Amino acid sequence: MGTAAQLGYLGFEVSDLGAWRRFARDPLGLAIGAPRPDGALPLRMDVHAHRFLLHQGPKDDVAYIGWEVRDAAALDSLAGRLERAGVTVRSGTAAEILARGVESLIWFDDPNGIRTEISHGPAMAPEPFASDRMRSGFHTGDQGMGHVLVNARSSAETERFYREVLGFTLTDYVDSDRLHAVFLHVNPRHHSLAFAELPLKKRLHHVMLEVNSIDDVGMAFDRCQELGVPPQRTIGRHQNDRMVSFYGYTPSGFCFEVGWGGRAVDDRTWEVQVYPGASDWGHHPVAPP
Ligand SMILES: [Fe+2]
Repeated sequence: MGTAAQLGYLGFEVSDLGAWRRFARDPLGLAIGAPRPDGALPLRMDVHAHRFLLHQGPKDDVAYIGWEVRDAAALDSLAGRLERAGVTVRSGTAAEILARGVESLIWFDDPNGIRTEISHGPAMAPEPFASDRMRSGFHTGDQGMGHVLVNARSSAETERFYREVLGFTLTDYVDSDRLHAVFLHVNPRHHSLAFAELPLKKRLHHVMLEVNSIDDVGMAFDRCQELGVPPQRTIGRHQNDRMVSFYGYTPSGFCFEVGWGGRAVDDRTWEVQVYPGASDWGHHPVAPP
């Protein structure tokens, strides 16, 4: 995808919008915007007008994953690659483009059946963003909004598709007793997309938001405990991206991760490794609610 690409936005189908409003504001410290033309509730975390779009519905899972590229030429080039690979690519309708707040949009179903959108020209907010909860701010910029870990139907097919067709770059693997995961990058963020074959019904395992201070990780952990947000894993440090983070459950039952200190990839010097475990310390599982 080249260095200009990033994880631009995520659409979730959620059954309890009220719970999501509370969860987004506190503990996560996101800002809630006015509903989009299609009714989606937008959440903001940085200079982008929105990074999350919440749609009322029963699935409680990811509805679409939005990748952002630099310009119309990059979008056309990816559309061509997809079509040559036999993927059915559709252009976004005027209503979809308006709802997402982008200049142009294509979409297709990825090997996991996830609606995958590629766009350019996202709407930016008219004023800067300052979270009253995450005071150090979210680490986004050209590293995009964070990362997702997807529950793959086939890890091998998903890896082939994202690397060979879309041009994502392999970062590393975790190959432990419990987890066989693949990590791919599209910019210096260690991974924007990870996937593994997991014993889950949902397609999304978690979304990670990175903050600029370890204190915001700790304070978010404390707020989750105070507010009764169920933890999924305790604070720990990952072996591969070196991120210090914790995991909890969103109101939709898939997980979120709040992290700090992820290392960046420099493609000129990067060497792919296979890690024997997910974490150096911590990240101990907590019994599900
Ligand atoms: Fe993660």
